[in-house]
Amino acid sequence: MDRIRIVGGNPLNGTIPISGAKNAALPLMIAGLLTDEKLVLENVPRLADVALLQRILGNHGIDITVNGKRRGDDAYAGQTMEIDARVIVDTTAPYDLVSKMRASFWVIGPLLARMGQAKVSLPGGCAIGTRPVDFHLDALRALGAEIEIDAGYVLARAPKGLKGARIDFPKVSVGATHTAIMAASLADGETIIENAAREPEVVDVADCINAMGGRIEGQGSSTIRIIGVPRLRGARHCVLPDRIETGTYAMAVAMTGGDVLLAGARADLLESALDTLRQAGAEVTVSNEGLRVTRNGAGISPVEVSTAPYPGFPTDLQAQLMALTTRARGTSKITETIFENRFMHVQELARLGARIQLDGETATIEGVEKLTGAPVMATDLRASVSLVIGALAAEGESMIHRVYHLDRGFERLEEKLSACGAQIERLAG
Ligand code: EPU
Repeated sequence: MDRIRIVGGNPLNGTIPISGAKNAALPLMIAGLLTDEKLVLENVPRLADVALLQRILGNHGIDITVNGKRRGDDAYAGQTMEIDARVIVDTTAPYDLVSKMRASFWVIGPLLARMGQAKVSLPGGCAIGTRPVDFHLDALRALGAEIEIDAGYVLARAPKGLKGARIDFPKVSVGATHTAIMAASLADGETIIENAAREPEVVDVADCINAMGGRIEGQGSSTIRIIGVPRLRGARHCVLPDRIETGTYAMAVAMTGGDVLLAGARADLLESALDTLRQAGAEVTVSNEGLRVTRNGAGISPVEVSTAPYPGFPTDLQAQLMALTTRARGTSKITETIFENRFMHVQELARLGARIQLDGETATIEGVEKLTGAPVMATDLRASVSLVIGALAAEGESMIHRVYHLDRGFERLEEKLSACGAQIERLAG
């Protein structure tokens, strides 16, 4: 298993290119199941999760081709992916694949809508909380599907097709909003989704489905209206930039000090996180090329933040912010409201010398003068990268184990950081 070795203390200076968003690319690939024509996605990031979803879609009989680099592309140019779901040979998504990546459960919406049936394994537990799928199933039931759970599988059937309906989610869910939008796009009649997720990735997927001939309105607001169409066609769509990767590197610069251009980043996708960074003492400026983050001289100020659905502070940046506040001049408070168990990084940050107290869903972080390098263990994607941020500012050497978690969501992180002056390297095996 690969490890990452970091010797902390260097400021970050230079340019970091921001890749396409993982959490948009995955549902966009799944949306390819909605049509028998080709869906071409540009700017798809090179990530382990994307490769795994390629395998999962391949299992349904979908042909996926990925184009290599073109002349003039830079080292981090995204991939162009052609998804051809002309023939779906199998409507079953088996346990051994779905259990490796929760988002693959989302194939249930398009498979059911297009094929009238789907058998998808329940995704099971996960390191950041229980993460049930009841909202997905309730939405599909509202659209007229018969749902049965048998031997760990969800069996969904709609032999006569789905019918537009009113869906009112009890709580905001990104995934259940994707499921409802995809299924309703091929249903008969009008669907209204209330309390829909407003995340930019939901908007990206809805825009792509509209380019395929879908009729979705209101994406980005809490009420989405969909008029179902009998069939969708092929389209070409470019994946939006990754706001979580952007926020992560912005926090890294705020932590180490320095001056970095996050090339291709879009500030409008992460206003709330940028406000928090400014409160913490970073300077963030927006330019045509992306976002520039600097912190010179001044120390890190403490902050109080609660995670919330978009446009609030994202849960996917909670661990990274916590790493930053470990070195603030004062006490910070971070409350996690989305997932009940997303604090595995606390114990590992403590190994670097952080002082963090947990009380239910709130962490109180007392800033320390310095962190010290140590061996630490990655536990999930965002927790692992918070350890990278901690290690970049720690005195001496840190070794991060189980970095496959990082590879799920960060494209060539060690290369992007070392190009900006960080002492970071991957050790194979
Ligand atoms: N929930 C239910 N029932 C459901 C669905 C969700 O109770 O049927 C609960 C969840 O347990 C959670 C809350 O609703 O407490 C919100 O979960 P949501 O459904 O929004 O999460 P998700 O769609 O499974 C996506 C991202 C996550 C991100 C969350 C929240 C992808 C592939 N995943 O997950 O990203 O944290 O939204 O913004 O888009 C990551 O990238 O590291 C990651 C975990």
